[in-house]
Amino acid sequence: MGSEGVILPRHLVLVPCPYQGHINPMLQLGTILHSRGFSISIIHTQFNAPCPRNHPDFNFIAVPDGLPDHLISSGNIPAILLAVNANCHTPLKDRVAQMMQSEKPNGKVSCIIYDEYMYRAESVAYSLRIPSIMLRTNTVSTFLARDFVLRLIDEGQIPLQETAGSIMEKPVPEHYPLRYKDLPTTIFKSLNNFVEVVKNIRLVGSSSAVVWNTLDCLENPLLGQVKQQCRVPIFTVGPMHKSAPQLSTSLLKEDYSCIPWLDKQAENSVIYVSLGSVACISEHELAEMAWGLAKCNLPFLWVVRPGLVRGTRNVRQSLLPNGFREGVGERGRIVEWAPQEEVLAHKAVAGFWSHCGWNSAVESIAEGVPLICRPNFADQKVTARYVTHVWRVGMQLEEELERDAVAAAVRRLMVEEEGLEMRERAVELKGRVEIGTRRGGSSFKDLDRLIDMIRSF
Ligand code: UDX
Repeated sequence: MGSEGVILPRHLVLVPCPYQGHINPMLQLGTILHSRGFSISIIHTQFNAPCPRNHPDFNFIAVPDGLPDHLISSGNIPAILLAVNANCHTPLKDRVAQMMQSEKPNGKVSCIIYDEYMYRAESVAYSLRIPSIMLRTNTVSTFLARDFVLRLIDEGQIPLQETAGSIMEKPVPEHYPLRYKDLPTTIFKSLNNFVEVVKNIRLVGSSSAVVWNTLDCLENPLLGQVKQQCRVPIFTVGPMHKSAPQLSTSLLKEDYSCIPWLDKQAENSVIYVSLGSVACISEHELAEMAWGLAKCNLPFLWVVRPGLVRGTRNVRQSLLPNGFREGVGERGRIVEWAPQEEVLAHKAVAGFWSHCGWNSAVESIAEGVPLICRPNFADQKVTARYVTHVWRVGMQLEEELERDAVAAAVRRLMVEEEGLEMRERAVELKGRVEIGTRRGGSSFKDLDRLIDMIRSF
Protein backbone atom coordinates (compact mmCIF):
# COMPACT_ATOMS: atom_id res chain seq x y z
CA MET A 1 0.00 0.00 0.00
CA GLY A 2 1.37 3.46 -0.91
CA SER A 3 1.36 6.46 1.42
CA GLU A 4 -1.98 7.72 0.03
CA GLY A 5 -3.71 4.35 0.23
CA VAL A 6 -2.95 3.48 -3.41
CA ILE A 7 -2.08 -0.18 -4.01
CA LEU A 8 1.34 -0.24 -5.66
CA PRO A 9 2.30 -2.97 -8.09
CA ARG A 10 4.53 -5.64 -6.62
CA HIS A 11 7.92 -5.83 -8.21
CA LEU A 12 9.12 -9.12 -9.70
CA VAL A 13 12.58 -9.92 -11.06
CA LEU A 14 12.64 -12.40 -13.95
CA VAL A 15 15.86 -14.17 -14.94
CA PRO A 16 15.66 -15.78 -18.40
CA CYS A 17 18.15 -18.27 -19.82
CA PRO A 18 19.87 -16.67 -22.85
CA TYR A 19 18.41 -18.79 -25.65
CA GLN A 20 15.41 -17.98 -27.85
CA GLY A 21 13.45 -21.06 -26.77
CA HIS A 22 13.80 -19.94 -23.13
CA ILE A 23 13.55 -16.17 -23.54
CA ASN A 24 10.13 -16.53 -25.22
CA PRO A 25 8.28 -18.29 -22.39
CA MET A 26 9.90 -16.09 -19.72
CA LEU A 27 8.87 -12.88 -21.49
CA GLN A 28 5.41 -14.33 -22.07
CA LEU A 29 5.14 -15.03 -18.33
CA GLY A 30 6.35 -11.48 -17.61
CA THR A 31 3.72 -10.08 -19.95
CA ILE A 32 0.96 -12.10 -18.30
CA LEU A 33 2.07 -11.02 -14.82
CA HIS A 34 2.38 -7.39 -15.91
CA SER A 35 -1.18 -7.49 -17.26
CA ARG A 36 -2.24 -8.71 -13.80
CA GLY A 37 -0.72 -5.71 -12.05
CA PHE A 38 2.92 -6.64 -11.32
CA SER A 39 5.90 -4.50 -12.22
CA ILE A 40 8.60 -6.46 -14.04
CA SER A 41 12.38 -6.25 -14.17
CA ILE A 42 14.26 -8.58 -16.49
CA ILE A 43 17.83 -9.30 -15.46
CA HIS A 44 19.61 -10.86 -18.41
CA THR A 45 23.02 -11.69 -19.85
CA GLN A 46 24.76 -9.55 -22.48
CA PHE A 47 24.90 -12.65 -24.67
CA ASN A 48 21.61 -13.03 -26.57
CA ALA A 49 20.13 -10.01 -24.79
CA PRO A 50 16.39 -9.50 -25.40
CA CYS A 51 15.24 -6.33 -27.16
CA PRO A 52 13.92 -3.75 -24.61
CA ARG A 53 12.12 -1.79 -27.35
CA ASN A 54 9.61 -4.62 -27.71
CA HIS A 55 8.66 -4.39 -24.02
CA PRO A 56 8.46 -0.73 -23.00
CA ASP A 57 6.71 -1.66 -19.73
CA PHE A 58 9.60 -3.78 -18.45
CA ASN A 59 12.81 -2.64 -16.85
CA PHE A 60 15.75 -4.44 -18.56
CA ILE A 61 19.05 -4.81 -16.75
CA ALA A 62 22.06 -6.50 -18.38
CA VAL A 63 24.61 -8.15 -16.12
CA PRO A 64 28.14 -8.98 -17.29
CA ASP A 65 28.29 -12.65 -18.27
CA GLY A 66 32.06 -12.88 -18.88
CA LEU A 67 31.56 -15.28 -21.79
CA PRO A 68 34.63 -15.37 -24.04
CA ASP A 69 33.97 -15.31 -27.80
CA HIS A 70 35.53 -18.73 -28.33
CA LEU A 71 33.08 -20.29 -25.83
CA ILE A 72 30.07 -18.62 -27.47
CA SER A 73 31.17 -19.71 -30.93
CA SER A 74 31.84 -23.27 -29.72
CA GLY A 75 28.06 -23.71 -29.39
CA ASN A 76 28.74 -25.99 -26.42
CA ILE A 77 25.52 -25.22 -24.56
CA PRO A 78 26.24 -27.06 -21.27
CA ALA A 79 29.64 -25.33 -20.99
CA ILE A 80 28.04 -21.94 -21.78
CA LEU A 81 25.31 -22.49 -19.17
CA LEU A 82 27.83 -23.46 -16.49
CA ALA A 83 29.87 -20.33 -17.25
CA VAL A 84 26.77 -18.09 -17.28
CA ASN A 85 25.68 -19.37 -13.88
CA ALA A 86 29.15 -19.03 -12.39
CA ASN A 87 29.85 -15.59 -13.87
CA CYS A 88 26.44 -13.99 -13.32
CA HIS A 89 25.93 -15.06 -9.72
CA THR A 90 27.69 -12.11 -8.08
CA PRO A 91 26.48 -9.36 -10.46
CA LEU A 92 22.94 -10.70 -10.17
CA LYS A 93 23.15 -10.72 -6.39
CA ASP A 94 24.58 -7.19 -6.31
CA ARG A 95 21.87 -5.88 -8.62
CA VAL A 96 19.01 -7.42 -6.63
CA ALA A 97 20.60 -6.32 -3.33
CA GLN A 98 20.63 -2.73 -4.65
CA MET A 99 16.96 -3.04 -5.51
CA MET A 100 16.20 -4.23 -1.99
CA GLN A 101 17.71 -1.02 -0.64
CA SER A 102 15.58 1.08 -2.94
CA GLU A 103 13.76 4.01 -1.40
CA LYS A 104 11.05 3.75 -4.05
CA PRO A 105 7.82 2.35 -2.58
CA ASN A 106 7.62 -0.46 -5.16
CA GLY A 107 11.37 -0.85 -5.70
CA LYS A 108 11.88 -3.82 -3.40
CA VAL A 109 11.63 -7.23 -5.00
CA SER A 110 8.72 -9.52 -3.98
CA CYS A 111 9.91 -12.58 -5.84
CA ILE A 112 12.56 -13.81 -8.28
CA ILE A 113 11.30 -16.02 -11.09
CA TYR A 114 14.15 -17.82 -12.84
CA ASP A 115 14.53 -20.26 -15.70
CA GLU A 116 15.57 -23.67 -14.38
CA TYR A 117 18.82 -23.30 -16.40
CA MET A 118 19.63 -20.12 -14.45
CA TYR A 119 19.70 -22.15 -11.24
CA ARG A 120 22.15 -19.89 -9.36
CA ALA A 121 19.37 -17.29 -9.16
CA GLU A 122 17.75 -19.52 -6.54
CA SER A 123 20.76 -19.17 -4.23
CA VAL A 124 20.77 -15.39 -4.83
CA ALA A 125 17.13 -15.25 -3.73
CA TYR A 126 17.81 -17.47 -0.72
CA SER A 127 20.77 -15.41 0.47
CA LEU A 128 18.77 -12.17 0.15
CA ARG A 129 15.70 -13.76 1.81
CA ILE A 130 13.51 -13.19 -1.22
CA PRO A 131 10.99 -15.86 -2.29
CA SER A 132 11.78 -17.52 -5.60
CA ILE A 133 9.90 -19.54 -8.22
CA MET A 134 11.39 -21.79 -10.91
CA LEU A 135 10.14 -21.74 -14.51
CA ARG A 136 10.47 -24.96 -16.46
CA THR A 137 10.16 -24.25 -20.19
CA ASN A 138 10.09 -27.86 -21.29
CA THR A 139 7.88 -30.91 -20.94
CA VAL A 140 7.34 -33.20 -17.97
CA SER A 141 8.25 -36.13 -20.21
CA THR A 142 11.65 -34.57 -20.90
CA PHE A 143 12.16 -33.93 -17.19
CA LEU A 144 11.53 -37.61 -16.41
CA ALA A 145 13.61 -38.84 -19.33
CA ARG A 146 16.53 -36.69 -18.16
CA ASP A 147 16.26 -38.30 -14.72
CA PHE A 148 16.49 -41.67 -16.38
CA VAL A 149 19.62 -40.56 -18.26
CA LEU A 150 21.22 -39.53 -14.96
CA ARG A 151 20.48 -43.04 -13.66
CA LEU A 152 22.12 -44.60 -16.72
CA ILE A 153 25.15 -42.35 -16.24
CA ASP A 154 25.42 -43.42 -12.60
CA GLU A 155 25.30 -47.02 -13.79
CA GLY A 156 28.09 -46.29 -16.29
CA GLN A 157 25.89 -46.99 -19.33
CA ILE A 158 26.32 -43.63 -21.08
CA PRO A 159 27.44 -42.85 -23.74
CA LEU A 160 25.00 -45.39 -25.12
CA GLN A 161 26.67 -45.39 -28.53
CA GLU A 162 29.55 -47.27 -27.03
CA THR A 163 27.37 -50.07 -25.68
CA ALA A 164 25.74 -52.76 -27.82
CA GLY A 165 24.49 -51.05 -31.02
CA SER A 166 21.06 -52.68 -31.00
CA ILE A 167 20.06 -51.14 -27.64
CA MET A 168 19.36 -47.83 -29.40
CA GLU A 169 16.25 -49.21 -31.10
CA LYS A 170 14.87 -50.86 -27.95
CA PRO A 171 12.04 -49.33 -25.90
CA VAL A 172 13.04 -47.80 -22.58
CA PRO A 173 11.21 -49.71 -19.83
CA GLU A 174 8.57 -47.52 -18.09
CA HIS A 175 9.17 -44.64 -20.48
CA TYR A 176 6.77 -45.44 -23.32
CA PRO A 177 7.01 -44.36 -26.16
CA LEU A 178 10.74 -43.63 -25.87
CA ARG A 179 13.45 -45.80 -27.33
CA TYR A 180 16.99 -45.54 -26.04
CA LYS A 181 17.87 -43.43 -29.05
CA ASP A 182 15.20 -40.88 -28.09
CA LEU A 183 16.71 -40.16 -24.67
CA PRO A 184 17.87 -36.57 -24.10
CA THR A 185 21.53 -37.51 -23.86
CA THR A 186 24.39 -35.16 -24.59
CA ILE A 187 25.87 -34.51 -28.00
CA PHE A 188 28.51 -32.35 -26.42
CA LYS A 189 32.03 -33.50 -25.72
CA SER A 190 32.06 -33.38 -21.95
CA LEU A 191 29.64 -35.65 -20.16
CA ASN A 192 30.66 -33.98 -16.89
CA ASN A 193 29.33 -30.59 -18.00
CA PHE A 194 26.05 -32.14 -19.07
CA VAL A 195 25.66 -34.02 -15.77
CA GLU A 196 26.44 -30.92 -13.73
CA VAL A 197 23.82 -28.86 -15.58
CA VAL A 198 21.17 -31.58 -15.41
CA LYS A 199 21.76 -32.18 -11.69
CA ASN A 200 21.45 -28.48 -10.97
CA ILE A 201 18.25 -27.93 -12.92
CA ARG A 202 16.52 -30.81 -11.09
CA LEU A 203 16.85 -29.05 -7.75
CA VAL A 204 14.02 -26.85 -6.58
CA GLY A 205 16.08 -25.82 -3.54
CA SER A 206 14.45 -23.08 -1.48
CA SER A 207 12.01 -22.11 -4.25
CA SER A 208 8.35 -21.85 -3.31
CA ALA A 209 6.88 -23.27 -6.52
CA VAL A 210 7.52 -24.51 -10.03
CA VAL A 211 5.79 -22.94 -13.04
CA TRP A 212 5.67 -25.24 -16.05
CA ASN A 213 4.94 -24.20 -19.64
CA THR A 214 2.93 -27.32 -20.36
CA LEU A 215 -0.66 -28.29 -19.71
CA ASP A 216 -2.67 -31.01 -18.07
CA CYS A 217 -4.42 -32.38 -21.13
CA LEU A 218 -1.08 -33.08 -22.81
CA GLU A 219 0.92 -34.46 -19.94
CA ASN A 220 -1.28 -36.26 -17.49
CA PRO A 221 -0.66 -38.80 -15.91
CA LEU A 222 3.11 -37.98 -15.88
CA LEU A 223 2.27 -34.62 -14.40
CA GLY A 224 0.35 -36.24 -11.54
CA GLN A 225 3.35 -38.42 -10.79
CA VAL A 226 5.76 -35.47 -10.68
CA LYS A 227 3.35 -33.37 -8.59
CA GLN A 228 3.22 -36.14 -6.00
CA GLN A 229 6.99 -36.28 -5.74
CA CYS A 230 7.59 -32.52 -5.64
CA ARG A 231 7.49 -30.87 -2.21
CA VAL A 232 6.31 -27.50 -3.61
CA PRO A 233 3.26 -26.70 -5.74
CA ILE A 234 3.57 -27.11 -9.49
CA PHE A 235 1.55 -24.71 -11.63
CA THR A 236 1.06 -25.82 -15.23
CA VAL A 237 0.13 -22.65 -17.06
CA GLY A 238 0.98 -23.46 -20.68
CA PRO A 239 1.02 -22.80 -23.45
CA MET A 240 1.77 -19.29 -22.26
CA HIS A 241 1.87 -17.71 -25.72
CA LYS A 242 -1.89 -18.28 -25.75
CA SER A 243 -2.42 -16.35 -22.50
CA ALA A 244 0.10 -13.56 -23.14
CA PRO A 245 -0.96 -10.58 -25.22
CA GLN A 246 0.80 -10.85 -28.61
CA LEU A 247 4.33 -9.54 -28.43
CA SER A 248 7.62 -9.98 -30.21
CA THR A 249 10.22 -11.81 -28.17
CA SER A 250 12.54 -12.57 -31.09
CA LEU A 251 16.29 -12.07 -31.02
CA LEU A 252 16.28 -11.96 -34.84
CA LYS A 253 14.09 -9.61 -36.84
CA GLU A 254 10.97 -11.34 -38.12
CA ASP A 255 10.38 -11.07 -41.86
CA TYR A 256 6.69 -10.15 -42.14
CA SER A 257 6.80 -10.23 -45.95
CA CYS A 258 5.82 -13.89 -45.70
CA ILE A 259 2.33 -12.97 -44.45
CA PRO A 260 1.12 -11.30 -47.70
CA TRP A 261 2.67 -14.29 -49.53
CA LEU A 262 0.65 -16.67 -47.30
CA ASP A 263 -2.47 -14.58 -47.95
CA LYS A 264 -2.13 -15.47 -51.64
CA GLN A 265 -1.94 -19.24 -51.05
CA ALA A 266 -4.91 -21.61 -50.97
CA GLU A 267 -6.33 -22.64 -47.62
CA ASN A 268 -4.50 -25.61 -46.04
CA SER A 269 -1.90 -25.78 -48.79
CA VAL A 270 1.42 -24.61 -47.32
CA ILE A 271 4.08 -26.56 -45.44
CA TYR A 272 6.02 -24.35 -43.02
CA VAL A 273 9.62 -25.46 -42.38
CA SER A 274 11.75 -24.25 -39.50
CA LEU A 275 14.37 -25.86 -37.27
CA GLY A 276 14.25 -23.27 -34.48
CA SER A 277 17.07 -21.12 -33.18
CA VAL A 278 19.91 -23.54 -32.41
CA ALA A 279 19.56 -26.78 -34.40
CA CYS A 280 22.10 -27.10 -37.22
CA ILE A 281 22.39 -29.20 -40.37
CA SER A 282 25.15 -29.89 -42.87
CA GLU A 283 25.37 -28.11 -46.22
CA HIS A 284 24.53 -31.42 -47.92
CA GLU A 285 21.35 -31.75 -45.78
CA LEU A 286 20.39 -28.17 -46.67
CA ALA A 287 20.67 -29.04 -50.36
CA GLU A 288 18.63 -32.26 -49.95
CA MET A 289 15.95 -30.35 -48.04
CA ALA A 290 15.87 -27.75 -50.80
CA TRP A 291 15.52 -30.27 -53.63
CA GLY A 292 12.98 -32.28 -51.62
CA LEU A 293 10.85 -29.17 -51.13
CA ALA A 294 11.21 -28.41 -54.82
CA LYS A 295 10.13 -31.96 -55.70
CA CYS A 296 7.10 -32.13 -53.38
CA ASN A 297 5.33 -29.70 -55.68
CA LEU A 298 3.49 -27.92 -52.86
CA PRO A 299 3.85 -24.34 -51.61
CA PHE A 300 6.35 -23.99 -48.77
CA LEU A 301 7.61 -21.32 -46.38
CA TRP A 302 11.13 -22.13 -45.23
CA VAL A 303 13.17 -20.44 -42.48
CA VAL A 304 16.86 -20.52 -43.39
CA ARG A 305 18.33 -18.61 -40.47
CA PRO A 306 21.90 -17.35 -40.35
CA GLY A 307 23.99 -20.14 -38.83
CA LEU A 308 21.60 -22.94 -39.79
CA VAL A 309 24.41 -24.74 -41.59
CA ARG A 310 26.89 -26.18 -39.12
CA GLY A 311 30.15 -24.27 -38.92
CA THR A 312 28.94 -21.20 -40.81
CA ARG A 313 27.88 -18.64 -38.26
CA ASN A 314 26.79 -16.12 -40.82
CA VAL A 315 25.42 -18.31 -43.55
CA ARG A 316 23.01 -16.49 -45.80
CA GLN A 317 20.64 -17.89 -48.34
CA SER A 318 23.44 -17.97 -50.92
CA LEU A 319 24.28 -21.42 -49.54
CA LEU A 320 21.13 -22.74 -51.18
CA PRO A 321 21.93 -24.85 -54.25
CA ASN A 322 22.25 -23.15 -57.61
CA GLY A 323 19.06 -23.11 -59.59
CA PHE A 324 16.84 -23.96 -56.63
CA ARG A 325 15.26 -20.53 -56.15
CA GLU A 326 14.65 -20.03 -59.86
CA GLY A 327 13.22 -23.55 -60.07
CA VAL A 328 10.61 -23.10 -57.34
CA GLY A 329 9.81 -19.45 -58.14
CA GLU A 330 6.81 -18.03 -56.26
CA ARG A 331 5.81 -21.49 -54.98
CA GLY A 332 8.46 -21.29 -52.28
CA ARG A 333 9.15 -18.45 -49.85
CA ILE A 334 12.43 -18.34 -47.94
CA VAL A 335 13.01 -16.05 -44.96
CA GLU A 336 15.76 -15.74 -42.38
CA TRP A 337 13.31 -15.57 -39.47
CA ALA A 338 9.52 -15.77 -39.49
CA PRO A 339 6.79 -14.45 -37.18
CA GLN A 340 6.14 -18.09 -36.29
CA GLU A 341 3.01 -17.75 -34.17
CA GLU A 342 1.25 -15.76 -36.92
CA VAL A 343 2.47 -18.21 -39.55
CA LEU A 344 1.12 -21.24 -37.70
CA ALA A 345 -2.20 -19.50 -37.11
CA HIS A 346 -2.56 -18.63 -40.82
CA LYS A 347 -5.31 -20.50 -42.67
CA ALA A 348 -2.98 -21.35 -45.56
CA VAL A 349 -0.63 -23.37 -43.33
CA ALA A 350 -1.47 -27.06 -43.07
CA GLY A 351 1.76 -28.66 -41.86
CA PHE A 352 4.94 -27.85 -39.97
CA TRP A 353 8.29 -29.52 -40.53
CA SER A 354 9.93 -28.88 -37.18
CA HIS A 355 12.95 -29.87 -35.09
CA CYS A 356 10.43 -30.26 -32.24
CA GLY A 357 11.80 -27.73 -29.78
CA TRP A 358 9.06 -27.53 -27.17
CA ASN A 359 7.93 -24.01 -28.10
CA SER A 360 7.56 -24.92 -31.76
CA ALA A 361 5.74 -28.16 -30.99
CA VAL A 362 3.27 -26.60 -28.57
CA GLU A 363 2.70 -23.58 -30.86
CA SER A 364 1.83 -26.00 -33.65
CA ILE A 365 -0.45 -28.09 -31.43
CA ALA A 366 -2.20 -24.94 -30.22
CA GLU A 367 -3.08 -24.08 -33.85
CA GLY A 368 -4.11 -27.59 -34.87
CA VAL A 369 -1.21 -27.93 -37.32
CA PRO A 370 0.24 -31.47 -37.69
CA LEU A 371 4.01 -31.96 -37.80
CA ILE A 372 6.85 -33.64 -39.61
CA CYS A 373 9.33 -34.17 -36.78
CA ARG A 374 13.02 -33.99 -37.48
CA PRO A 375 14.56 -33.71 -33.99
CA ASN A 376 18.14 -32.62 -33.72
CA PHE A 377 19.18 -33.18 -30.11
CA ALA A 378 18.20 -33.36 -26.42
CA ASP A 379 14.51 -32.79 -25.54
CA GLN A 380 13.56 -32.54 -29.23
CA LYS A 381 13.79 -36.33 -29.58
CA VAL A 382 11.47 -36.88 -26.62
CA THR A 383 8.95 -34.35 -27.89
CA ALA A 384 9.03 -35.89 -31.38
CA ARG A 385 8.02 -39.27 -29.90
CA TYR A 386 5.15 -37.72 -27.96
CA VAL A 387 3.96 -35.88 -31.07
CA THR A 388 3.99 -39.07 -33.14
CA HIS A 389 3.03 -41.76 -30.61
CA VAL A 390 1.05 -40.15 -27.79
CA TRP A 391 -0.75 -37.15 -29.32
CA ARG A 392 -0.51 -38.76 -32.79
CA VAL A 393 -0.47 -35.43 -34.60
CA GLY A 394 2.67 -35.97 -36.64
CA MET A 395 5.19 -38.32 -38.15
CA GLN A 396 8.92 -38.57 -37.76
CA LEU A 397 11.36 -38.35 -40.64
CA GLU A 398 14.01 -40.74 -39.37
CA GLU A 399 15.85 -41.77 -42.48
CA GLU A 400 18.82 -39.88 -43.87
CA LEU A 401 17.84 -36.50 -45.30
CA GLU A 402 17.55 -37.27 -48.98
CA ARG A 403 15.42 -35.38 -51.55
CA ASP A 404 13.04 -38.23 -52.45
CA ALA A 405 12.41 -39.06 -48.78
CA VAL A 406 11.81 -35.37 -48.05
CA ALA A 407 9.33 -34.96 -50.90
CA ALA A 408 7.53 -38.20 -49.95
CA ALA A 409 7.26 -37.18 -46.26
CA VAL A 410 5.86 -33.75 -47.12
CA ARG A 411 3.27 -35.21 -49.47
CA ARG A 412 2.34 -37.89 -46.90
CA LEU A 413 1.57 -35.21 -44.33
CA MET A 414 -0.04 -32.69 -46.64
CA VAL A 415 -2.13 -34.64 -49.12
CA GLU A 416 -2.33 -38.32 -48.18
CA GLU A 417 -5.02 -39.93 -46.07
CA GLU A 418 -2.66 -40.57 -43.15
CA GLY A 419 -1.74 -36.87 -42.99
CA LEU A 420 -5.35 -35.77 -43.20
CA GLU A 421 -6.15 -38.00 -40.22
CA MET A 422 -3.28 -36.40 -38.30
CA ARG A 423 -4.71 -32.98 -39.11
CA GLU A 424 -8.12 -34.04 -37.79
CA ARG A 425 -6.53 -35.18 -34.52
CA ALA A 426 -4.48 -31.98 -34.37
CA VAL A 427 -7.63 -29.86 -34.72
CA GLU A 428 -9.27 -31.90 -31.96
CA LEU A 429 -6.21 -31.42 -29.71
CA LYS A 430 -6.24 -27.69 -30.43
CA GLY A 431 -9.77 -27.64 -29.03
CA ARG A 432 -8.57 -29.29 -25.82
CA VAL A 433 -5.73 -26.79 -25.49
CA GLU A 434 -8.22 -23.94 -25.93
CA ILE A 435 -10.38 -25.37 -23.15
CA GLY A 436 -7.30 -25.59 -20.90
CA THR A 437 -6.34 -21.96 -21.40
CA ARG A 438 -9.75 -20.32 -21.28
CA ARG A 439 -11.57 -19.24 -18.08
CA GLY A 440 -12.19 -22.29 -15.91
CA GLY A 441 -9.57 -24.40 -17.73
CA SER A 442 -6.64 -26.08 -15.97
CA SER A 443 -3.96 -23.62 -17.12
CA PHE A 444 -6.21 -20.64 -16.43
CA LYS A 445 -6.88 -21.83 -12.87
CA ASP A 446 -3.20 -22.60 -12.22
CA LEU A 447 -2.29 -19.11 -13.40
CA ASP A 448 -4.72 -17.66 -10.85
CA ARG A 449 -3.26 -19.87 -8.12
CA LEU A 450 0.26 -18.79 -9.06
CA ILE A 451 -0.73 -15.12 -8.90
CA ASP A 452 -2.41 -15.64 -5.51
CA MET A 453 0.78 -17.22 -4.23
CA ILE A 454 2.97 -14.35 -5.47
CA ARG A 455 0.60 -11.81 -3.91
CA SER A 456 0.85 -13.68 -0.60
CA PHE A 457 4.65 -13.17 -0.38
C1 UDX B 1 15.78 -24.47 -27.56
C2 UDX B 1 15.95 -25.97 -27.74
O1 UDX B 1 16.58 -26.29 -28.94
C3 UDX B 1 14.62 -26.66 -27.61
O2 UDX B 1 14.78 -28.03 -27.83
C4 UDX B 1 14.08 -26.40 -26.24
O3 UDX B 1 12.83 -27.03 -26.12
C5 UDX B 1 13.96 -24.91 -26.01
O4 UDX B 1 15.20 -24.27 -26.27
P1 UDX B 1 14.81 -23.76 -30.05
O5 UDX B 1 15.60 -24.80 -30.69
O6 UDX B 1 15.00 -22.41 -30.52
O7 UDX B 1 14.90 -23.81 -28.46
O8 UDX B 1 13.29 -24.24 -30.34
P2 UDX B 1 11.90 -23.84 -29.82
O9 UDX B 1 11.67 -24.33 -28.43
O10 UDX B 1 10.96 -24.33 -30.82
O11 UDX B 1 11.87 -22.26 -29.77
C6 UDX B 1 12.00 -21.47 -30.91
C7 UDX B 1 11.14 -20.24 -30.77
O12 UDX B 1 11.51 -19.32 -31.78
C8 UDX B 1 9.64 -20.52 -30.91
O13 UDX B 1 8.92 -19.84 -29.92
C9 UDX B 1 9.30 -19.96 -32.28
O14 UDX B 1 8.01 -19.38 -32.38
C10 UDX B 1 10.36 -18.91 -32.49
N1 UDX B 1 10.69 -18.78 -33.91
C11 UDX B 1 11.31 -19.79 -34.58
C12 UDX B 1 10.34 -17.63 -34.56
O15 UDX B 1 9.76 -16.71 -33.96
N2 UDX B 1 10.66 -17.50 -35.87
C13 UDX B 1 11.30 -18.47 -36.57
O16 UDX B 1 11.56 -18.28 -37.76
C14 UDX B 1 11.63 -19.65 -35.89
